[in-house]
Amino acid sequence: MVYLKNTDEIEKIRKASVAVANGLVKLKAAVRPGLSLKELDRIAEDHALQQKGIPAFKGYRSYPASLCVSVNHVVVHGIPNDYLLQEGDIVGIDYGIVLDGYYGDSAITVPVGKVSDKANQLMSVTRDSLMKGIAQARPGNRMGDISYAIQFYAESHGFSVVRNFVGHGIGKRLHEEPQVPNFGPKGKGLKLEVGMVLAIEPMINEGTFETEILSDGWTAVTKDRKLSAHFEHTIAITKEGPIILSTPDIAA
Ligand code: MF3
Ligand code: CO
Repeated sequence: MVYLKNTDEIEKIRKASVAVANGLVKLKAAVRPGLSLKELDRIAEDHALQQKGIPAFKGYRSYPASLCVSVNHVVVHGIPNDYLLQEGDIVGIDYGIVLDGYYGDSAITVPVGKVSDKANQLMSVTRDSLMKGIAQARPGNRMGDISYAIQFYAESHGFSVVRNFVGHGIGKRLHEEPQVPNFGPKGKGLKLEVGMVLAIEPMINEGTFETEILSDGWTAVTKDRKLSAHFEHTIAITKEGPIILSTPDIAA
């Protein structure tokens, strides 16, 4: 069941999503060599509570933290631990907040100090693939138009698209229908409609698209242990086209 949202609901999802985006601005500013992943998680937890929200991931299917922090070859769902960020790492920060009963969800991947050209290219292609996907999120198009745009852009740059995780509808729940794959043929799949709110989240790899889950049951890594990047926005489909809801309203 795909729940279409009215403008009041979209406003509530926007408030939650702006709170997330502002948190990501703070988290990005905190990233530096020597910072522990648990410290990032603490900043995220404090920020959510300051916003009068609740961290969305903590307790979701027993997930133990407020953030997913995914370093280098970790694709998604890295659990914050005592690892200290090192110059040259790239770190995916995935964050969600529930505010007034509605969810916002967004992710960025950021460099720690100076990183390799390959890492910079992977991050920028992943971010731009998200933007290509968002541009297709308009009424009359189909889900496959979003998926194809992401896949085509990423693969044109020599990178691969993770298949095992997808984006999702979002609203009163973190994960609603429909699924939003980051790969697939254009012109196919669900018809996109005004009022759909989607979390679009490409995960793009340097090498193979294949992933495996570590023994903690959460941490997804690339099979070849090469780099992976992840960006995510919560967006709404309006009759004029897509609106990105997870945009910060504080200075970067
Ligand atoms: N952005 C991720 C997702 O939508 C974050 C979920 S982490 C979890 O799947 F712990 F909540 F599962
Ligand atoms: Co998500």
